[in-house]
Amino acid sequence: MKHLLIFILFLMLCLPGKSQNVKWLDELNVDYMSAGWSNSKANKSIAGNPLKVAGSSFQRGVGTHAVSSFLIDLNSNAQFFKAQVGVDDEIDNGAGSLEFVVMGDKKILWRSNPMKKGDAPKDCNLPLTGIKKLALIVLGLGDSSNDHADWLNAQIGYKDICPVAIKQITPPETPPYVLTPKVSPFPRINGAKVFGARPGNPFLFKVAVTGKRPMTITASGLPNGLSIDSKTGIITGTTPAKGEYIVKLTAQNSLGKATRNLKIVSGDLLALTPPMGWNSWNCWGLSVDQEKVKASANAMINKGLIEHGWTFINIDDGWEAPERASDGTLNPNAKFPNMKELTNYIHSQGLKMGIYSSPGPKTCGGFLGTYLNEHKDANTWADWGIDYIKYDWCSYTDVAKDWSLGELQKPYLVMQDALKKCNRDIVYSLCQYGWGNVWEWGAKVSGNLWRTTGDITDTWTSMSGIGFSQLKNTEFAGPGHWNDPDMLIVGKVGWGPSLHNTHLTPDEQYTHITLWSLLAAPLLIGCDMSQLDDFTLNLLCNDEVIEVNQDPLGKQASPVKNSNGIQIWMRPLEDHSYAVGIFNGGNDDPYDLVSWDSNSSNAKAVKVLFSDLKLKGKFKVRDIWRQKNLEVKGNSIDVKVPHHGVAFLKITPVK
Ligand code: GAL
Repeated sequence: MKHLLIFILFLMLCLPGKSQNVKWLDELNVDYMSAGWSNSKANKSIAGNPLKVAGSSFQRGVGTHAVSSFLIDLNSNAQFFKAQVGVDDEIDNGAGSLEFVVMGDKKILWRSNPMKKGDAPKDCNLPLTGIKKLALIVLGLGDSSNDHADWLNAQIGYKDICPVAIKQITPPETPPYVLTPKVSPFPRINGAKVFGARPGNPFLFKVAVTGKRPMTITASGLPNGLSIDSKTGIITGTTPAKGEYIVKLTAQNSLGKATRNLKIVSGDLLALTPPMGWNSWNCWGLSVDQEKVKASANAMINKGLIEHGWTFINIDDGWEAPERASDGTLNPNAKFPNMKELTNYIHSQGLKMGIYSSPGPKTCGGFLGTYLNEHKDANTWADWGIDYIKYDWCSYTDVAKDWSLGELQKPYLVMQDALKKCNRDIVYSLCQYGWGNVWEWGAKVSGNLWRTTGDITDTWTSMSGIGFSQLKNTEFAGPGHWNDPDMLIVGKVGWGPSLHNTHLTPDEQYTHITLWSLLAAPLLIGCDMSQLDDFTLNLLCNDEVIEVNQDPLGKQASPVKNSNGIQIWMRPLEDHSYAVGIFNGGNDDPYDLVSWDSNSSNAKAVKVLFSDLKLKGKFKVRDIWRQKNLEVKGNSIDVKVPHHGVAFLKITPVK
């Protein structure tokens, strides 16, 4: 009975003659049109208002919000698609720009090019003969999150079978899978190969070594003033005079011996490789306290991360007392009973300690900032033994006269001066969300790293949106000064007292760590370290992955190819090889936003030609995550890349 009714309805709505063989978009099931915010609506804007673009109102159409995708089965029966598209007028301030894309059978048929609020609607008029599936897509262009998009007067002309909207099935999530091989019991020296320090300041460097204990770690050629603890591998003392010192490190246990050179560069530059460590923000937010910080430091040691090069334990916002002391000192609040003791404890483990403040009167979390106390605070931090300061713009907006470059740089110059005078190596992390193209001047204000974007969250849109848009800043990364696309969002995160597992899928997490390694990005773990599971440890403790991130050449990767949903990013390495990431899916790739087949397999088979990478000659190729050499067939290499996942290769020329 039910089927009969549906059939009669079908005959009434779809048979020729009845509705002039035109199906309006608003007559299809628009619940199946995905929207980046709220639900797509027939004959209304996404916020439920009458459709209006550039001052003109429209009776018919569909209102949605980028990122949006709609898949329609045409049964190879359609003849044309006709619509106007535009940005809805309903957002008063801050409407985002958009791009409308129409695809047929996995191919792009039409793009609107970027459109902004106030632009007259654009006409889209397309023949559809022979096309089986039609996809209507709206991309946000990253300039705002208010992306209200309208498909206006949209219709599909067809012969006899009515087009139907398809419910898109997102590919099933792969359960966590571990790629990193188990740590070998043989000695292996890991972590940074080059280390910068300033003459005359206290020196601390832990030689990271994996392998069975007991282990003896020695360093020959250490300059005067430095010595190594052979049990822990911690080198301490006073940084020698300006110059470069090559130290030969040896790690020996009952199974064998490993050697490696460490270059100590005594000069002005710190962070000659991207800083690696932990920061409290993405897990604990403002609920951070001393116990949580200690637990993270302990996990760094007990779970072995320190032996892979992880170093910093950074307290973000939330440590500051409500008032300055009578002598003007900004002490910690009751959650941090003794900062100096905490720092001593952290140093005794071979780790380093970081802290946070704002150049404004208040931090972003509403705590006291450093404004007008710059020298005082820098000295306090030096006295506590702090090794890293994240200096976050926040309420400096109330102080700055305008948005000129001079005003953007001013507070960072003041702190630069204060840090220079305090006789301690303090890595200087600028946080002002990339304003004024900070990468162009961050190094001039002595920044060792600078945030290039707003805050990251644990979604694919956020992570891939940030990661894959690190394009304009590439040339500004290098030893001592790094682009910072924000902290890692693997493991248990939460930005407050209650935590959850990251919302990234396992493949997305591989993409995250691979991309950050290729980008030579600072690696700051943002999760609860005391709850690290095997999968997350596998992401964080792969020495060949870390080696790419820490490569002494310090070159940031850039994209070399982007087609059919596959993007390839590549960076040259110090040993004349290349690290290459082959990613399945970017945030702005229309192809990737549509589940074309209900049973679409996650993985794509990709043939990477060496010529795609602009490489000539013979090469050996290694799978970096699996730490295995791959078979090279002639001039190409075949890989399988999971949906939102990555294949990470090291390509080395051979004679
Ligand atoms: C934000 C910053 C975050 C975190 C937070 C603390 O401005 O981008 O990373 O530090 O402030 O309040």
